Amino acid sequence: MPGVASSAQNVPYSRIRELAEAAMKMEGVYKLYFGESNIPTPDFIKEAACRALEEGFTFYSSNAGLPGLRQDLAGYYRRLQGVELDPASEIVVTASGVQALMLTIRLAINPGDEALILTPAWPNATSVVTMDNAVPVEIPLRFLNGRYRIDFEALEAAVTPRTRLLVYTSPSNPLGWTATEEEQEQILDFTRRHDLWLLADEVYDRIYYRGPRVGAPAPSILRKASRDDAVMVAQSFSKAYCMTGWRVGWAILRKDAAAKAAQLNEFIVSHAASFSQRAAQTALARGEDHIRQMVEAYRDNRDFCLRALSEIRGVQVPSPDGAFYLFPKIEGLQDSFDFCWRLLQETKVGIAPGVAFGRGAEGSVRICYAVERSILEPALEHFCKFLSAFWAGR
Ligand SMILES: Cc1ncc(COP(=O)(O)O)c(C=O)c1O
Repeated sequence: MPGVASSAQNVPYSRIRELAEAAMKMEGVYKLYFGESNIPTPDFIKEAACRALEEGFTFYSSNAGLPGLRQDLAGYYRRLQGVELDPASEIVVTASGVQALMLTIRLAINPGDEALILTPAWPNATSVVTMDNAVPVEIPLRFLNGRYRIDFEALEAAVTPRTRLLVYTSPSNPLGWTATEEEQEQILDFTRRHDLWLLADEVYDRIYYRGPRVGAPAPSILRKASRDDAVMVAQSFSKAYCMTGWRVGWAILRKDAAAKAAQLNEFIVSHAASFSQRAAQTALARGEDHIRQMVEAYRDNRDFCLRALSEIRGVQVPSPDGAFYLFPKIEGLQDSFDFCWRLLQETKVGIAPGVAFGRGAEGSVRICYAVERSILEPALEHFCKFLSAFWAGR
């Protein structure tokens, strides 16, 4: 009997999923474990999808996505990031951020190559590298003077002749850390010097709290990089427009890589659903008010959680610059999965164990605060009580 290929066997099961699967079998769980808001997709986007179905967007589209959507994405970058992109040759629509990651990583590495990944990080990039028969090398950010920072010394030390790619996420899931302009310049300098591809996962760029105004995006690496740099961006409609179930994202790539990405798309999913792409155009055109309101609500939630956690001793939690997670480090915690499992069983609060997020993440837990206050407040109360009992029992 043939066995399952080792490149598939080697992909670890997501420990976020493991906990979530148990939680989904229980009644009345406070669901803070997934990276998903419980705000439904705004009506104007749903209506656009219905119109698209009626208008006949039920057929195949081109591998790179609807030309109109790529054009709108170019306009979006011009407006929000001050970046000029050629919609025909530098933008490829994908069937989600996950698929943008799969395509971009596939374009950068050969079997046996090494990919540097800044952690703690959502585990998908690491798993995709493994699926590609390549080797993920996780480099933890360091917590120094109240802020996470890139450990450039560790990055330099990790480069080998097989290193081809550096992946980072900004704003970060789970840290909320967002690369500063100086860090972006340093990352670019590092990848240029070592002839590496740079992949920036920017799916949380619209959930950013440090911009000049509410709703301003986190600055993209594209502002710093030239279009000839070996730089790729993975993006998604999921987080900014509450469209997780729609499966639409995009990638920005150098022209040669973009052409290849579109071609490979044919053999992966062909393209994102045509009516989802059409609705995504409406999201870009009319979504700014929604984003402002959403970011304001998330910022209030973030501050509420930070206040609640600041009252507990032994918890280190920097204020996140973006995304919708807190990643408190809990003094003395050695098995975050066991902690989250017991928290779930005893209090019905479902959060994600730090161990799911790679090197440098054990000893923390991830709380997704993109939920209504009626869920967040009791969940945090239970969490804080559970923590007190955890310490009392040590
Ligand atoms: C860091 C990061 N990148 C990419 C994604 C992918 O999002 P989607 O596939 O829904 O577009 C997620 C989703 O949680 C994420 O957290």
